[in-house]
Amino acid sequence: MQLISTIAELRTQLANQRAIAFVPTMGNLHEGHLDLMRQAREHGSCVVASIFVNPLQFGPSEDFDRYPRTLDADCASLQGLVDVVFAPAVNEMYPAQQTVFIEPPPVANELCGAARPGHFRGMATVVLKLLNIVQPQVALFGKKDYQQLHIIRQMVAQLNLPIRIIGGETVRAADGLALSSRNQYLNGAERAEAAFLNRTLQTMKSAILQGERDFERLQEQAVEALAARGWRVDYVAVRSQSDLRAASGSQRELVILAAARLGDTRLLDNAEVCLAG
Ligand code: PAF
Repeated sequence: MQLISTIAELRTQLANQRAIAFVPTMGNLHEGHLDLMRQAREHGSCVVASIFVNPLQFGPSEDFDRYPRTLDADCASLQGLVDVVFAPAVNEMYPAQQTVFIEPPPVANELCGAARPGHFRGMATVVLKLLNIVQPQVALFGKKDYQQLHIIRQMVAQLNLPIRIIGGETVRAADGLALSSRNQYLNGAERAEAAFLNRTLQTMKSAILQGERDFERLQEQAVEALAARGWRVDYVAVRSQSDLRAASGSQRELVILAAARLGDTRLLDNAEVCLAG
């Protein structure tokens, strides 16, 4: 496994590779990331992971400074799974002030985008830069960041990038909490409570599978249940999987998306719901 920090060296290293599968990350890897790396091996003869905490996608009051940076441990867990780790410094990715940005689709202003203005613009911009640098045939992203995955799919399709995007299933702890690098911000009591977010989504999913179509009411009930236990809810929303617009009762492929805060920690989760017929 090669650890590379410059774009020039990475390009030389990958020059003769014709089947690159790429997993972009911000590091502090957990089993969710490693699962994507294993899947990547099925899609390419050369697997590249990137580790880069992208300042462009953090707001001024967000956790850019305290985001966990654990390069040595990350490299140890990637041994045997990937061929190349690309871990550039900020000034390698942004040698001058970035003045060209990807303007993401309007859905980027809703859901997580409403609470994190500019987040998806910064995310899409770095993902496009990374895709241009690595030039993979396949790139993999976790479904936990469902809105992010949707925006990346739109960007790749509408900008005609010859890259197949694959969404990996969310990996969960035994109690159902979606794995996330931010889970380590939780104190003991918060960690015990955190799985309630997934339980709430599963309760909503069961209700929809049993015929409930009043999505507004389901959303309100979920927000109330979370708030009653001390969560500060950004949103709970039933959306159509294909465009992330508000779901109507006749749609068959739905996704329930939620973001809520426990203390200072913002957690995301979602549950896909596929209705028969
Ligand atoms: O999901 C992430 O870790 C990041 O948003 C990504 C896709 C690596 C871009 O910085």
